[in-house]
Amino acid sequence: MANIYEKTTTAPVNIAVVKYWGKRDTSLILPTNSSLSVTLSQDQLQSKTTIRVSKDFKATRLWLNGIEETNVENNQRLQACLRATRLLRKEYENSLAISGHVNIPPLSEWNLHICSENNFPTAAGLASSASGFACLVYTLAKLFELPISATDLSRIARQGSGSACRSMFGGFVAWEMGDNTDGSDSQAVQIAPETHWPELEALICVVSDLKKGTSSTEGMQHTVKTSELLQHRISKVVPERMRGIKEAIKTRDFKKFAEITMRDSNQFHAVCVDTFPPIFYMNDVSRAIIRLITEYNNSGDETYKAAYTFDAGPNAVIYAQKENIKEIINLLAHYFPSTLDLNKEYFNDHAGLFSTDEKIGQLNLPRGFNSQVIPVFPAGSVKQVLHTRVGEGPKVLESDGESLLNSAGLPK
Ligand code: DP6
Repeated sequence: MANIYEKTTTAPVNIAVVKYWGKRDTSLILPTNSSLSVTLSQDQLQSKTTIRVSKDFKATRLWLNGIEETNVENNQRLQACLRATRLLRKEYENSLAISGHVNIPPLSEWNLHICSENNFPTAAGLASSASGFACLVYTLAKLFELPISATDLSRIARQGSGSACRSMFGGFVAWEMGDNTDGSDSQAVQIAPETHWPELEALICVVSDLKKGTSSTEGMQHTVKTSELLQHRISKVVPERMRGIKEAIKTRDFKKFAEITMRDSNQFHAVCVDTFPPIFYMNDVSRAIIRLITEYNNSGDETYKAAYTFDAGPNAVIYAQKENIKEIINLLAHYFPSTLDLNKEYFNDHAGLFSTDEKIGQLNLPRGFNSQVIPVFPAGSVKQVLHTRVGEGPKVLESDGESLLNSAGLPK
């Protein structure tokens, strides 16, 4: 039987604490400012991709969450990633041939079957393009046996979706914007590994929202065209914040980390409102979460205990240290109750924070906390709270059982 050339890998989601918003080149995906993110554990959120390459495949095909994409040839971003990795594979095949190797399979010339899935529902409105494109590019690199680094790969993943370049690493990751017009220095670098700050964890509040918002890609270019505030952000604010957040991470200074994170989320949403016509991503529940976290940080002693951040949608991500996570979950469950089973559908307590007879949402307010800061919202305003931590970069799954494709090269 002929060899099967196939690889399966997984890649993580990342949530920025200094946000990327704006492109100076929309086809190479070069940003107007640097950004920095935290890679989240793949136990809760990950993309998984299997790619097989075969001389027998009649066309390159792609299945996303079980549905075949019909327009693969015209998908510019996908094609950019395929072109770049195939070119590197071609160079590799040539170099092997020159050094005397024979029978090198010409994988760069064959069609691909790509099957990709997320372990979290897309309906939750959590960004999947970052983990999806990082996973695509990482799988191709492993399948083609490319002898290149994660930073090199990040420049390719960037062309799929800007934020995807940061999912090439675990831990704390900067996307350095670069100066070159060809994008050769616009890439991701790891600031610290996932083991660096084990106390740092995250809660993701899935906020209900009926309307479909403006996509990041579309929204950020309206901002580039119309917002004067964005120019101030790019030239003055972000360079200073990039220095500050790197320092805060290095020294595990949560107060500094939290302040920059919250200020940067606020300013990202301020440039959205400064866009003309304005773009609104947060809703009343998002703003109430901001008030709740602000009151929580102001009550008690001097130090901050939580930091909120919001991307291009109403969901909140709250970064906090381990010791405060349970208290924050109780606050969330009190002010944003659920009709679902609190200990199961609303909050999956995989870390065992609550004992079996303990009810989530029992309010034991921190000292000095103003309980009237926000009203108790109607049940279901927050659909779900996910608890996660800082996690690893992309991984290869070695076992055949992990493949998403059957023997015919079609989704299982
Ligand atoms: C608000 O990476 O989704 O999440 O490059 O057009 O694919 P494209 O945009 P995308 O934008 C992410 C924007 C953000 C902030 C961030 O992740 O830094």
